[in-house]
Amino acid sequence: MVGSAPMRHERGMQPAGDRAESQPSPRDAQQLRRAVGPGPDRQVRPGVEAVAVRQADGLLAGAAANKFVFFSGALALQQPRSVQRILGERSILELVGADHRRVRGALSEFLRPEMLRSYVGKIDGEVRRHVEENWAGGRDAVVTVLPLMKRLTFDVIASLLFGLDGGCGGGARRDALAGEFERMMEGMLAVPVDLPFTAFRRSVAAGDRARRMVAEILRERAAALARGEATRGSDLIACLLSLRDDRGERLLSDEEIVDTAMVALVAGHDTSSILMTFMIRHLATDQTTLASMDLTKMKLTWRVAQETLRTVPPILGNFRKALEDVEFDGYVIPKGWQVFWVASVTHMDGSIFPDPSRFDPSRFESQSSSASAAPPCSFVAFGGGPRICPGIEFARIETLVTMHHLVRRFRWKLCGKEDTFARDPMPTPRDGLPIQIEHI
Ligand code: HEM
Repeated sequence: MVGSAPMRHERGMQPAGDRAESQPSPRDAQQLRRAVGPGPDRQVRPGVEAVAVRQADGLLAGAAANKFVFFSGALALQQPRSVQRILGERSILELVGADHRRVRGALSEFLRPEMLRSYVGKIDGEVRRHVEENWAGGRDAVVTVLPLMKRLTFDVIASLLFGLDGGCGGGARRDALAGEFERMMEGMLAVPVDLPFTAFRRSVAAGDRARRMVAEILRERAAALARGEATRGSDLIACLLSLRDDRGERLLSDEEIVDTAMVALVAGHDTSSILMTFMIRHLATDQTTLASMDLTKMKLTWRVAQETLRTVPPILGNFRKALEDVEFDGYVIPKGWQVFWVASVTHMDGSIFPDPSRFDPSRFESQSSSASAAPPCSFVAFGGGPRICPGIEFARIETLVTMHHLVRRFRWKLCGKEDTFARDPMPTPRDGLPIQIEHI
């Protein structure tokens, strides 16, 4: 969820039958090349629909494989060690079974649609302020979208999770937390070598400072709740502190609350900022769609977002570790091995999404905000199963409010001649996507 890291394994995935002797199908080979890039060591085992196997690694893709990864009890979420060290051992990403359900249930309480609707005003206030301060400056101004979006989504989520908004000194604290988070993210996926001057050491130190700030907010919120000056709806910390089990005991420990808040802050701002950056990138060259997006057409805006997520998923995929020997479609994944589910291979499969390279928001003309008309586990930008992203509705509201303000006030065009992006591991447009904006 936090991104991908280098995969290291001793052996490859083993076919559980005689299928291994035949040759890979051209379609599988093509899918794998798209997923992992060209290279002489890439090898596809045949006969297994949409399972891409490299000699030393297991990459899983396709609706059936996604379903297997998301729902198999034999596969557990596996984050790189660096992520565990930085985000904490009691974070939702590390918990399994009943503990995972308990913490996820608590987080979902804060993120449920009825609660989120009451936050729209706060989100709207943050977006208006950002647009005034950063976008509305002058005629034909050039703005760089990615850093602006990162700061916007950070401020929105810091306001909702921690009650840190511009007032009462909250702005200074939020700036300090944003700085620590930026430093923390820089070494999050670095090789975890804990020596002076390494990116990992700097990242750990920044993460520890951020954690102390969150712990301080927790103490303040607990005191405010005790005095009746805060309520469960004040922010995430107040909500998690207020939850009780059947015996009236606190549902989450302080450590679990701090770790969960750290994960929500990381998971909730980087992903949405990438989504909106790529929506702006696409809309710069698709005036027809842009012109159709207005306040009365929120559904279209979310479909444009979904199609952006399909074509450029912010999370490439993620690791799972086999807790026991487990078989998928004739292949045995031995206990202890890691597999990696990949979103883009399925998203670019023409048998699921016809003419997959074409940007077509009408693919998502269905009721659900997280799914498309395609079969289950085909659109997996938010994952699936018990670990499906609990922030979908949050991301939807934030995206709709932000795009509404931008589309209503501006038109824009790309400044760079080269419209390319790299994965770092999140998709990152060249030079942060400078655009020239025009007021309308
Ligand atoms: C466009 C925006 C977003 C995208 C594309 C996205 C994507 C994902 C994906 C793919 C996963 C599943 C990872 C896996 O199964 O390996 C995930 C999990 C998660 N996401 Fe999101 N996310 C987004 C926004 C958010 C927001 C706004 C929040 C919080 C406010 C959030 C919080 C989480 C958490 C806590 C998990 C872990 C859930 C668990 O392990 O049970 N995400 N996200």
